[in-house]
Amino acid sequence: MKRLIVLLLVFAGLCSCSQVTKKNVFIEKESFGTTADEKKVDRYTLSNLLGMKVVIITYGGIITHLYVPNATGGLNDVVLGYDSLSDYEKGSSYFGALIGRYGNRIANGKFKLDGVEYTLVQNNGKNHLHGGTKGFDKVVWDASSSIENDKAVLKLNYLSKDMEEGYPGNLKVEVVYALTKDNKLEVEYKATTDKKTVLNLTQHAYFNLSGAKDILNHELMLNAPSYLPVDENLIPTGEIASVAGTAFDFTSSKAIGRDVLKEDIQLERGLGYDHCWVLDDSNKGLRSAAILKEINSGIQMEVFTDQPAIQFYSGNFLDGTNPMKQSDSLYNYRSGLCLETQHFPNSPNESSFPSTELSPGEVYSTKTQFKFILLNRF
Ligand code: BGC
Repeated sequence: MKRLIVLLLVFAGLCSCSQVTKKNVFIEKESFGTTADEKKVDRYTLSNLLGMKVVIITYGGIITHLYVPNATGGLNDVVLGYDSLSDYEKGSSYFGALIGRYGNRIANGKFKLDGVEYTLVQNNGKNHLHGGTKGFDKVVWDASSSIENDKAVLKLNYLSKDMEEGYPGNLKVEVVYALTKDNKLEVEYKATTDKKTVLNLTQHAYFNLSGAKDILNHELMLNAPSYLPVDENLIPTGEIASVAGTAFDFTSSKAIGRDVLKEDIQLERGLGYDHCWVLDDSNKGLRSAAILKEINSGIQMEVFTDQPAIQFYSGNFLDGTNPMKQSDSLYNYRSGLCLETQHFPNSPNESSFPSTELSPGEVYSTKTQFKFILLNRF
């Protein structure tokens, strides 16, 4: 009789186990210290069964680590970053951060809305760059995490108050990072305002797929037949130029180092690539915008977005002063590259560019995804 009861219990246990669905993604949370002004910062690690791991801190919504499988069966951390919170607070390179309110430059830090002129913080010569001196990369976001439909989800919220860094309107922003079970990192941005404002949110991870000293051997394809030439201050001139026959033609995959040293006034102004490419199929919603691959690591990253453009920045201002994480070295010239999905720079001052205005009652809503696969090298 006793034996029968034991058998029944084991059987019941097996049945209930088989009903528990297998977990494909995981979330861990820990403290990442406090900021200089005593705000608590947490660190979340989203991971999946394939080994991909995304580490994000609530300060700046910064992706500090992004581990993806490489061709030799290990994992590569494919983003630049620091070890400590204070380095992120001091840093001015926007490593891994969320950027807002306006990613990229606004000429002279000024723009007009309905006839009223607004003056923003000038933090890049006389221009405004990436939201100012205390943009969305330098604030602590509220966070909550959950597992939804096989995705590890981190929701970040921030209220940007009326006139913060010079922008009108109380802006409620939500950014949702989600790691899927098949090695995709999704980023969704939403915002609403109580007064008309301008907005251009993006993500500023610096990628280096192999960990080599620079990214010049990485191959890049951009689904972009044209780009925006810039003036000496890196403000678009207003012209939308064809890439055909220029160093800016990435319509077929090519090594970043192939043309970067070509004689070209645009490359001179950017010290390399630091331009906005106008993406094809602009009204088609989420579509492939860029493919980055590195042969030694065997890693390929594909970027999907619903945004009209992508800023490809080849790390030209990295000058050997940023400490490298988990190392005694420094990040040198072109040790990482950014692929920032976004609207055109300086749109608030260029009526021919797609509008970046957001009015009360409207919902700003955009999506970008980074998908990692292993290259078939043989
Ligand atoms: C810009 C660069 C700028 C860099 C700062 C990039 O998004 O295109 O011009 O220097 O951000 O990290």
